[in-house]
Amino acid sequence: MQIPNNHKNLATTLHNRRQKLAKLIDFPVILWSGSRSPRNFPANTFPFRPSSHFLYFAGLPLEDAAIYLDGGKLELFMDNPPPSSQLWYGEMPTPNRLAEIIGADAAFPMTELKSRGTNTATIPVQNPTNKITQSHILNRDISPSNNPTKIDLELTKAIITLRLSHDATALTELKQAASVTIEAHKAGMAATKNAKFEANIRAAMESIIISQNMSCAYSSIVTVHGEVLHNEQYFHPLQTGDLLLADVGAETSLGWASDVTRTWPVSGKFSPTQRDIYNVVLAAHDACLAKVKPGVEYVDIHLLAAQVIAEGLVDLGILKGKPEDLVEMDAHALFFPHGVGHLLGLDVHDMEDLGDLAGYEIGRVRSSRFGLGFLRLNRPLIRGMLVTIEPGFYQVPGILNDKEMRHKYQDIVNWEMLEKFADVRGIRIEDDVLVTTDGAEVLTQELPSDINSIENLVQLQN
Ligand code: GLY
Ligand code: MN
Repeated sequence: MQIPNNHKNLATTLHNRRQKLAKLIDFPVILWSGSRSPRNFPANTFPFRPSSHFLYFAGLPLEDAAIYLDGGKLELFMDNPPPSSQLWYGEMPTPNRLAEIIGADAAFPMTELKSRGTNTATIPVQNPTNKITQSHILNRDISPSNNPTKIDLELTKAIITLRLSHDATALTELKQAASVTIEAHKAGMAATKNAKFEANIRAAMESIIISQNMSCAYSSIVTVHGEVLHNEQYFHPLQTGDLLLADVGAETSLGWASDVTRTWPVSGKFSPTQRDIYNVVLAAHDACLAKVKPGVEYVDIHLLAAQVIAEGLVDLGILKGKPEDLVEMDAHALFFPHGVGHLLGLDVHDMEDLGDLAGYEIGRVRSSRFGLGFLRLNRPLIRGMLVTIEPGFYQVPGILNDKEMRHKYQDIVNWEMLEKFADVRGIRIEDDVLVTTDGAEVLTQELPSDINSIENLVQLQN
């Protein structure tokens, strides 16, 4: 585990986070980090990532640990590693040393945790085995994190309040993740010329992230089939005429994420049809970025993206009608079937382990409309919030060939015209946008998105 150079900053930040939490709730809290899951034998495990709620208050990616928070106090619960661990994993900092680094008041072995379990709130970790231990220590059932009750619900709401708006330490990390992600995308573009398969470009991009001692914040999407929204296949050969969609983001060693998508032509030159649709998506992207500021409803940014995409598709002769009517009848969603973005922080879809409790303002629920139901964030923007803006255009066979859709939108889509755009399977342009006091700061601004710059970056030799 990497210990940050400036522990004092970390300890101060964690102290401030605890103080803020103490102002919002008047009961104690236990948060667990979680444990590794074995692949086949205990020492060969899936990569470990602590619970983000734990990480927010503990600062370091500790394993098999718990923290107890009460009125601003912090206690660390963690066992000393067994003597054999030094042989296999080298020397580890002791729990006492870790407690010092994170500014905890004391460190205790795990056996002591049960004594803190009465009337104590938690947010369970995702691993079901860990959840059984948690229930035992709290001496009660624990509801799933997306449906908390009683004090767990109060805790969840308090943590959402804190994590919705990022503090200076979080922003430093988020900016580092963004900056490495920008370099990864540039490397991916430059690697395209000599690449034969999607996997070659993925390797070039992830190697930048790994070489900065970071990891990927989510499974990379690097594909010529951008119409498969979360495509995790990398074996397709690259053909001249293909567009390559890369949705790749770094995560810092303390767990903070970036999430960026660019789409570029494998040949280094967009075809005229690709250019036309790319510019529609780019217009939506730019219009949405310009709208981000405190007080603006995120759903209105989504609807703006829908409107600009509908206008662009009408101009290209793909959709027929008035753009506002088309959005009203969800015709844009035939080609833009997801929300315009989401919260970003310690997780790529930040706090989505809490269902819609973080993404949706209290009292709001998901729409049943095809064009709005996938929206993950429906709140007014506030200063310090980090969101993605990621409009797209996709030709998804499952949507466009669906009998009901075909019937419903028979006269709205110019199907013959659409066929001319067959070389555009999927385009998405995604940036990470911080809400500032009076507007926005695009953390990923240094990565261009206009056609000329993208073509130049792809044509650069590695
Ligand atoms: N980066 C993948 C997503 O936002 O869903
Ligand atoms: Mn995203």
